[in-house]
Amino acid sequence: MTYARIVSTGSYLPSNRVSNHDLEKMVDTSHEWILSRTGIENRHIAEDHESTSDLAEKAAISALEAANLSPDSIDLIVIATTTADQVFPSSACLLQDRLGIKGCPAFDVQAVCAGFMYALDIAEKFIRTASATRALVIGAETFSRIIDWKDRSTCVLFGDGAGAIIVEASDTPGIHTTHLHADGQYKDLLSVPVGVSKNFNKVVNGSAFTQMQGGEVFRIAVKCMEKVAEEALEANGVDIDSVDWMIPHQANMRIITATAKRLGIPMSKVIVTVNQHGNTSAASIPLAFDVAVRDGRIKPGDRILIEGFGGGFTWGAAFLTY
Ligand code: UT7
Repeated sequence: MTYARIVSTGSYLPSNRVSNHDLEKMVDTSHEWILSRTGIENRHIAEDHESTSDLAEKAAISALEAANLSPDSIDLIVIATTTADQVFPSSACLLQDRLGIKGCPAFDVQAVCAGFMYALDIAEKFIRTASATRALVIGAETFSRIIDWKDRSTCVLFGDGAGAIIVEASDTPGIHTTHLHADGQYKDLLSVPVGVSKNFNKVVNGSAFTQMQGGEVFRIAVKCMEKVAEEALEANGVDIDSVDWMIPHQANMRIITATAKRLGIPMSKVIVTVNQHGNTSAASIPLAFDVAVRDGRIKPGDRILIEGFGGGFTWGAAFLTY
């Protein structure tokens, strides 16, 4: 039996770091409000000339270097993003060209903040069915481009960045199970309600902005994150005590702590980056994964539960051995 196993991670954050105090100069907010309601202190914002595929390229190179692999050994590229460079070609194709890879499938996946869970699930299935042997799976976002920087209820929450993971075929299990869900009835609670085929003028005049009913999103996010984590544990016949690390989507420190409490996992086993990255949407999980690998917390053989939640709503989890 062929399994899919994570062999390396990489990430990239734009150098422009924006603190809560910087935001105090832009909207009617305070460091204290942002910190107490979200746990966020800083976020990184891409420069005007930096696009999603620029961030993805740097994360990809860092993952390739970490595993001492050359780009031409990659035979699948999946990028989870809500903020693709162009309508088409996909950011994955743009990245493929930059990396000098020719011929392998390359495509984007759109499931907002749960996008990385979807991308990883797809790559895992490609590998398990022998359609690919080594995949570059990336979450990359320039979410700052779809934020109204005059709206204090959303602009303090998000940041830009990219995280990359290389997954390859292996005789020993790596990713044990993946679990994806969506429920479109919640489409209006978190959205950018414009696009190519609807209200395109708002895209053109630069007012395609994120709208969110924060309290409702919060409540449903905690429930879904708890439920999908339990689904993953049950599918693997393990309990929460056998999880070495949980890497949740990084939207709000209060969502993370509430989910951890409901699941009964101590915060010492939960990877948290929301304080320094803000919510980087599809990039948040692979970014947090890479931070914890590079600082030595996550080690080979560790059992890891990752889970995401985003607009749609979409949500998912995976249980894996690193
Ligand atoms: O990644 C996908 C999923 N996204 C999420 O999971 C986000 C989920 N939601 C949240 O994280 C939280 O609901 C928020 C952080 C967005 C908001 O926290 P909250 O505790 O739910 O606050 P609230 O929306 O109930 O607002 C409380 C008050 C309001 O004032 P009034 O009406 O009580 O006078 C807001 O106007 O806080 C006000 N407020 C702010 N004040 C200072 C909202 N944003 C700000 C701000 N600074 N930036």
